[in-house]
Amino acid sequence: MDTKRVLHIRTERLILKPHTQNSLAWLNTTFNDPREGYFDDDSPPRENPLSLDETQKILDRILNRPEDSDIIDYAIHQQSNDELIGYGMIAHIDHYNHRCDLGISLGWDEAAWGKGYASETLRAVLVYCFGDLKMNRVGSEIYEFNTPSIKLFERNGFRREGTKRQYIYKDGIFKDMHLYSLVREEWENQNNYL
Ligand SMILES: CC(C)(COP(=O)(O)OP(=O)(O)OC[C@H]1O[C@@H](n2cnc3c(N)ncnc32)[C@H](O)[C@@H]1OP(=O)(O)O)[C@@H](O)C(=O)NCCC(=O)NCCS
Repeated sequence: MDTKRVLHIRTERLILKPHTQNSLAWLNTTFNDPREGYFDDDSPPRENPLSLDETQKILDRILNRPEDSDIIDYAIHQQSNDELIGYGMIAHIDHYNHRCDLGISLGWDEAAWGKGYASETLRAVLVYCFGDLKMNRVGSEIYEFNTPSIKLFERNGFRREGTKRQYIYKDGIFKDMHLYSLVREEWENQNNYL
């Protein structure tokens, strides 16, 4: 059985670290932001806002992942004031096949967007995935209309390897989801890894 892993990384401007109970209000606002669900969720649109109690249940699952969980969650904080500005997860961690998938979101506060924080996060998480976790392949699934996320992953070396056609139902029509990946040899080449 794997021992439970937590991620704690300091980058130039950010600290990536495990969520705490203090993430509750921020997560609630983020999950209730229509942009979040639009880009990140294929469930039917919610009829009522997610209550704090419902968000607490999600947070409880994050805080109490089992020892052998294949998910590592993290919160993205600004280093300067410890403000929570985003969150992400490394999911489907498969140590036998050396692969995992990533999701990154900067949450509800537009002040954090367009500053390179997601790229800074992604680059640090890739070092963790290829280095600490010894992954060979890191993937991500992105809706065709999620231009910021497509730019984020392509800018950091991910290649589109396929498309699940008409995979999600949004705005009354079926839309595609793109599959992206970065494999170790590409990551090592782009980082002049020795
Ligand atoms: C996807 C998402 C995380 C991308 O955030 P982002 O801030 O656009 O991404 P980056 O951190 O890479 O920032 C890049 C932008 O910051 C600008 N920038 C400003 N200062 C910068 C710096 N110091 N370093 C790098 N880029 C900087 C870049 O020019 C770029 O702008 P552009 O996209 O107009 O070219 C964000 O849009 C989001 O949270 N979306 C909602 C949820 C979501 O879609 N999640 C993904 C599911 S997989």
